[in-house]
Amino acid sequence: MERNNVTIIQHPLIQHKISILRNKETGTNEFRTLVEEIAMLMGYEAFRDLPTELVEVETPIETTRQPMIAGKKLAVVPILRAGLGMVSGILALVPSAKVGHIGLYRDETTHEPHEYYCKLPENIDKRTIVVVDPMLATGGSAVAAVDFIKQRGGKDIKFLSIIAAPEGIERLMTAHPDIQLYCGCMDRELNENAYICPGLGDAGDRIFGTK
Ligand code: PRP
Ligand code: URA
Repeated sequence: MERNNVTIIQHPLIQHKISILRNKETGTNEFRTLVEEIAMLMGYEAFRDLPTELVEVETPIETTRQPMIAGKKLAVVPILRAGLGMVSGILALVPSAKVGHIGLYRDETTHEPHEYYCKLPENIDKRTIVVVDPMLATGGSAVAAVDFIKQRGGKDIKFLSIIAAPEGIERLMTAHPDIQLYCGCMDRELNENAYICPGLGDAGDRIFGTK
């Protein structure tokens, strides 16, 4: 279903970098750098609607009122582990953002998420929350992460995933139709092990070199 709060970012720089991520010969070091760069490019797109306010600035020539980011503060919330790889890209854009963490892993048989950690910044209800996870597969982890954030008062939620499966987009947006979802690209489908096809394999293992 077409949804106006789902953005598949069609940008040649992002597409190019994702194609290198997909290559099984791409090593851990390059993989990490690319994930960080893609997160930054995606953040640039996702932050287009951040409100600004006019602030007085003294230039060497005169005093003027110019736009600066206003109001609510940002929180970046990676879903562990793989989401950690995207945090530095977002912080490069908004260095003052606070960082929360949600620990989830997928059961290898049922593919359902299990929580092992959740720590969010204070005043989460007053922040714009940017949840980051490179992979949106069945959507189980994403739905659980947004559930936790909402249970703790979070309201204004953006979710950034580098590669998404159609099944995951549908599940996440059906469970949480009020969030904004940004994907670097949408792949074809999930396979019988709930891996994204063509995908890039296991994002956590490729970022941390654990397989
Ligand atoms: C991966 C990925 C997502 C999740 C997506 O994490 O980083 O969090 O799977 O799958 P889903 O949409 O079907 O829930 P994983 O559970 O493999 O944990 P890891 O990051 O610790 O490797
Ligand atoms: N998690 C991953 O890391 N990759 C997939 O393809 C699906 C879930």
